[in-house]
Amino acid sequence: MTATSPAGGYRLIAISDPEGPPPAPGQFYMLASVTGWSGDGGRPFLPRAISHARTGVAPGGGLRLEFLLDRVGPGTDRLASMPPGSECWMAGPFGRGFSLPRRLNPEAFGAILVGGGIGIAPMAALRRELIGRNVPSRSLLGFRDQANSGGIGELFGCDDVRLAFEDGSTGHRGYVTDLLLQLLEGDDAGSAAVYACGPPAMLEAVRQICLARKIPVELALESPMACGYGACFGCAVPRPGGGYLRLCVDGPVVRGDEIATALGGEADRG
Ligand SMILES: Cc1cc2nc3c(=O)[nH]c(=O)nc-3n(C[C@H](O)[C@H](O)[C@H](O)COP(=O)(O)OP(=O)(O)OC[C@H]3O[C@@H](n4cnc5c(N)ncnc54)[C@H](O)[C@@H]3O)c2cc1C
Ligand code: FES
Repeated sequence: MTATSPAGGYRLIAISDPEGPPPAPGQFYMLASVTGWSGDGGRPFLPRAISHARTGVAPGGGLRLEFLLDRVGPGTDRLASMPPGSECWMAGPFGRGFSLPRRLNPEAFGAILVGGGIGIAPMAALRRELIGRNVPSRSLLGFRDQANSGGIGELFGCDDVRLAFEDGSTGHRGYVTDLLLQLLEGDDAGSAAVYACGPPAMLEAVRQICLARKIPVELALESPMACGYGACFGCAVPRPGGGYLRLCVDGPVVRGDEIATALGGEADRG
């Protein structure tokens, strides 16, 4: 781990990966701090899935991978508490990332990115990829309140970003899906490709908005992940016509019509 800094209510950490292949936006890593496993009864016994938010070149060569962390439990807390120079267990990149807009919708002129809470991390990676390819995009970012937000300036700057805070402290007062509906009321619906990551209720709202308007949409889903590479079936979600997707290998990015719902249950893992 090479750097760590606060990013609003979240934490941005940088890890150097001398060997790994560069990740695609939407892919994730399984991460665990090497130390601190004796606290909180030793949990977590398993590493945690974390999306990369930005990549670059590490000081000594190789990849610099940046991750945005929301401390919700012992795994993220230990990662966010690591000092620079400490060692981290890391495996990845895993999973299926986002498609480019023209692949998702041949009529697409650009992309609309919708991020909620810590779900802005993979949106930041996708935004940078699109900028590098000269594909126009607009980012809609939503948060509950200031304490549960972060990484906006660090990862997005201020171009083409609209904010929604449920408590009205910045930007639109309300849900980020209000901003999406406003955008789609214009001429954008037919030429849009929508991408989203955030809490399940937000993802399901985005999915329903897009399916109702026949707008292609990809969602980066979360589910409990024990292995990260397809072995444990801990991350299975139902397909609409029966059967299951394993989110770690068939996702975490899925098209809106590939799943029955984006609403998941509360996870409880070891
Ligand atoms: C593909 C993927 C990418 C992710 N990217 C990031 C990221 O970039 N940054 C980040 O901070 N987190 C990310 N997460 C979420 C993170 O992996 C989980 O929140 C993880 O469980 C945190 O571990 P913990 O030990 O800190 O908390 P835990 O003890 O595991 O969980 C704390 C609380 O959160 C609840 N919870 C945790 N995860 C979920 C879930 N998936 N669904 C419902 N409830 C849940 C638990 O029930 C518990 O109440 C990602 C998850 C996935 C699957
Ligand atoms: S996390 Fe083990 S199969 Fe997906």
